[in-house]
Amino acid sequence: MQQPPKSKYVPALGFHWLTPYYDAVVGSTTRERIFKQALIKQARIEPGHQVLDLACGTGTLAIWIKQNQPQANVTGVDGDPVILSIASRKSQKANVSVKFDRALSYNLPYPEEHFDRVVSSLFFHHLSWEAKEQTAQELFRILKPGAELHVADWGRASNALMRGLFLFIQLLDGFKNTQDNVSGKLIELFEQAGFVQVSQRQTFSTIYGTLALYSAVKPS
Ligand SMILES: C[S@@+](CC[C@H](N)C(=O)[O-])C[C@H]1O[C@@H](n2cnc3c(N)ncnc32)[C@H](O)[C@@H]1O
Repeated sequence: MQQPPKSKYVPALGFHWLTPYYDAVVGSTTRERIFKQALIKQARIEPGHQVLDLACGTGTLAIWIKQNQPQANVTGVDGDPVILSIASRKSQKANVSVKFDRALSYNLPYPEEHFDRVVSSLFFHHLSWEAKEQTAQELFRILKPGAELHVADWGRASNALMRGLFLFIQLLDGFKNTQDNVSGKLIELFEQAGFVQVSQRQTFSTIYGTLALYSAVKPS
């Protein structure tokens, strides 16, 4: 069995006490609806698909996926029980059936070749490089052959202004982990884990810097 990676747990907004404000902050400052709906469109989820939202946080993306494709089976997983209780309450209020599990990204409680799609947003920048690598390997393990990974996260800055604005995220979530993202290393990360057709599909300028959408395929 692999040793757990060296990676400090970074909660949703950098500090646990900020978690209750997560939806208000992200909803009003990151163009959340636009980039998450773009990620959903990119993922082309079909009826009957098994879908995992990795590090689902308050569950917004998972809920929108289920609303968009009611015949998909949607699971959200996150390491933080407090944020998962917010996600559960939100899905009940929206009358949407999403299963929420608590687990760490580099040790997921799912069998091999189980999912048709894994989606994830605003997450990889929380992890050390070692934890990113083990997480990418886990995703490769749980995806079916030919299945797809779709990720939205901070990417290489599209200009000097975007690079400057990203310093706020680096202060909040830590310089080392976030540097991999802004150096454009997520593509290399997914390729190393065995994914093919890894590409950056779209970028969005936000007040915190450049958000990038990636896709990758597990070979058949
Ligand atoms: C910035 S939030 C993003 C939440 C959500 N995906 C979104 O787009 O709003 C990052 C999430 O990653 C979770 N997280 C951090 N490290 C994790 C790990 N190793 N395994 C699982 N979840 C983790 C945090 O609890 C938090 O909910």
